[in-house]
Amino acid sequence: MIGRLNHVAIAVRDLAAASALYRDTLGARVSQPLPQPEHGVTVVFVELPNTKVELLEPLGEDSPVAKFIARNPDGGIHHICYEVDDIIAARDRLKESGARVLGSGEPRIGAHGKPVLFLHPKDFTGTLVELEQA
Ligand code: CO
Repeated sequence: MIGRLNHVAIAVRDLAAASALYRDTLGARVSQPLPQPEHGVTVVFVELPNTKVELLEPLGEDSPVAKFIARNPDGGIHHICYEVDDIIAARDRLKESGARVLGSGEPRIGAHGKPVLFLHPKDFTGTLVELEQA
């Protein structure tokens, strides 16, 4: 059911420092910071040949990433995103299997302008999983 790894999202306290680390130390191509107030984050996209890494810095008061940073002051992997061909079919299949879909259970438009859902980390080996319509 799941297809390509779309991205790995890493929460960071200092986006400028993390961008410099990926650009200068690791030699990756990094984007300019992109504020996404509707998701409570500012994002830098790290473009790799086979996937992306997204560096997420909390933005605003009730950012979901702020709590993560409070628990993980050095930052850390926040979620991984897999592509699916049909997000509604994927959701229904997962719910039937007992997996918990976060929020309302309806797909929202994610950071790339495509429908996404998040799955409960306790149901997926301790990892927050994002599904994105391919
Ligand atoms: Co994501």
